[in-house]
Amino acid sequence: STLMRSSAASDVYKRQEENQFIQNMNDIIMRKFICLFMVCFLSIATTLRAWEGNVLISTPNTSIILSATEGQQLRFSYFGERIEENQIHQVFDSWAGFHRPAYPVFGTSTYEISALHAVHADGNQTLDLVVDKVEQNPVKDAILTVITMKDRVYPFTVKMYYKAYQQIDMIETWVEVSHNEKKAVVLKRFDSGHFLIRRADVWISSLHGHWGAETQLESEPLVSGMKVIKNMDGIRNGLGDHSEVMFSLDGKPQENSGRVIGAALCWSGRTKIRVDMDDTFGRSVHSIFAGMNEEASEYKLEPEEVFTTPVLALTYSQEGIGGASRNFHRWARAGMVHGCDKPRDILLNSWEGVYLNIKEPEMDQMMNDIASMGGELFVMDDGWFGRKYRRINDNSSLGDWVVDTEKLPNGIQGLTDTAKKYGIKFGIWIEPEFTNTKSELIDNHPDWVLRAGSRELSCGRGGTQVALDLCNPKVQDFVFHVVDTLLANYPDIAYIKWDANGELLNYGSSYLPKDKQSHIYIDYHRGLVRVMERIRAKYPDVVIQACGSGGGRVSYGVMPYFDEFWVSDNTDALQRLFIQWGTSYFYPSIAMAQHVSASPNHQTGRVVPLKFRFDVAITGRLGMEIQPKNMTDEEKDFSKKAIATYKSIRPVIQYGDLYRLISPYDRKGVTSMMYATEDKSRAVFFVYKMEQFVNQLLPRIRMAGLDPKKNYKIRELNVAPGANPCFLNDRVFSGALLMNTGIELQLEREYASWVLELTEI
Ligand code: DGJ
Repeated sequence: STLMRSSAASDVYKRQEENQFIQNMNDIIMRKFICLFMVCFLSIATTLRAWEGNVLISTPNTSIILSATEGQQLRFSYFGERIEENQIHQVFDSWAGFHRPAYPVFGTSTYEISALHAVHADGNQTLDLVVDKVEQNPVKDAILTVITMKDRVYPFTVKMYYKAYQQIDMIETWVEVSHNEKKAVVLKRFDSGHFLIRRADVWISSLHGHWGAETQLESEPLVSGMKVIKNMDGIRNGLGDHSEVMFSLDGKPQENSGRVIGAALCWSGRTKIRVDMDDTFGRSVHSIFAGMNEEASEYKLEPEEVFTTPVLALTYSQEGIGGASRNFHRWARAGMVHGCDKPRDILLNSWEGVYLNIKEPEMDQMMNDIASMGGELFVMDDGWFGRKYRRINDNSSLGDWVVDTEKLPNGIQGLTDTAKKYGIKFGIWIEPEFTNTKSELIDNHPDWVLRAGSRELSCGRGGTQVALDLCNPKVQDFVFHVVDTLLANYPDIAYIKWDANGELLNYGSSYLPKDKQSHIYIDYHRGLVRVMERIRAKYPDVVIQACGSGGGRVSYGVMPYFDEFWVSDNTDALQRLFIQWGTSYFYPSIAMAQHVSASPNHQTGRVVPLKFRFDVAITGRLGMEIQPKNMTDEEKDFSKKAIATYKSIRPVIQYGDLYRLISPYDRKGVTSMMYATEDKSRAVFFVYKMEQFVNQLLPRIRMAGLDPKKNYKIRELNVAPGANPCFLNDRVFSGALLMNTGIELQLEREYASWVLELTEI
């Protein structure tokens, strides 16, 4: 069984004296410039013995092997397809085992890149960690392996955790650092985890981008040198470089074939992923390190204090990038995204409809309109608050979470009553981590904002926006009470949009002591998590959206507390195809807020048919972001039907398996994807025409995720007003034909699209 280690560990440790000699030889001899003869000799010697002290960490289809012998350095030996216990030796016999440091520490092997660097109380800069104990125990849905390592000289402990899910191919790893030295130890680097990939034609895919153009996908081969993917914002890490990556081990990334390793660092603050090509030991590897960004973040760890790193989630798939994505989605729905047991409501958000110009009659009208189109929720966005300083522009009032009664004479109660009258739910926007220099909050609590001593405040949005100091427990209380007061006073609020429109400026906390100012980037996010934990303990059922100037909070660091995220402020359907494509690499559709907005689009000016706008938005959590008053009756009618259609396919979209088929990045004129239920009885297929040329060669699209033996009836959904359904409508095809031969397209206009429902017959 995979639980073999705790008992078998002691046997293993008895054999370590034999191993000790061989591994010491490894450490001493296998440095740079060793001759080929020695490499071969040692590899054979290691092969003979190395499997004996191994820890097997397995999910249904994947395994990690660590070599953990008491008194010796922990080694990372294998990550890939599932291995059974009696096959471990085969990994080494075939020379597939890495047998390299699992968590390299700085000091003794100074030529190695390290995951952990600590300066002891006496100034010594080195660590030398050896395995003390290995424990493996079942926990909810998973098996938890804990490897305790101790320094050979200092009272310094590192515990490495590996949580292997038993129903999902996901292994979470993280580290706890603690010590018992006389004074504080300074941590200079503190990665969550480290793993290795054999050097080959390995490609890395990662997401980058900023406001309005988030999650732009980039794929490139790994070459010599180090690739660094870092996030510097301080508050939102969904902008800039994302802390999720995929590695395609068999050349250029393929959607549905090839071996892929996916990694997601679950932290909401600054992050750093380092990918280094290393041939120190004569066998080339890509060495991957991921953790909180250590820049300007030295951490002074007091005796007995435990420093816990964020989780690094690792997955492996033989089914290409798509397989790794589906693993992330399953894991997300199983708990990494809050509240996925409940399907998500269809909503209207007021932002692009009225912007800051909130007024009671408009709110009433918008609620009436979305209710009559079949929507289920109305969300009042920015602009509803501020008394002394009214929120007329974006340069004031954040922090003053009291209703502007000039705009809303009947307050929030009036709005929730109206929502009830129309039979829908009500949601509200807040931005509780920020304030403006023009606010009662800052008038009363000037020390509650981050500020660099006596320096003038650097301000963000509106020239006045600054971040609160969430390192400070009093500020954490305040933020908790913003939510608590709203929800306690207005229990009918069903949804909160939690925004964050700024980076971490003004590096200074009046709460943290002088010698711990460098904790700000870390303690801010620990404070945020503390607040969210309190909110979730009291309000588990309120739906909360994570937003950060658009997609700034698309981060597994916060998603355990948030039900969904705003994908981007860019609601242009064409550009959204790219943004949503990239986001779907790691995040599930149920969490992706996708709204139909006006045409011409407010961000790009592009004119796009309403059908196309709907067809793009319905691949995630559908919403509208528009003033319905400005829509024609025909448009309202189409929207009503499209919303009803979405309701009928919602379970397939929000809970189905995603298969991406044709990437918008491949510039083939179309992009295509589909969702299929786990039992493959239903699926929904999407294809979008991105540009139109006469006599254009379009690909025949081969579907995926179906059962080749089943027959499926096709029904076209969301047929454009006045148009006939496409030639595939009402026909029956085998899964084999749909997947192996594929379907031809007939999309002869820019922004034409098909949504096809496939039902097993
Ligand atoms: C940024 C968000 O992304 C928008 O959706 C909107 O809520 C504005 N902030 C409001 O200020």
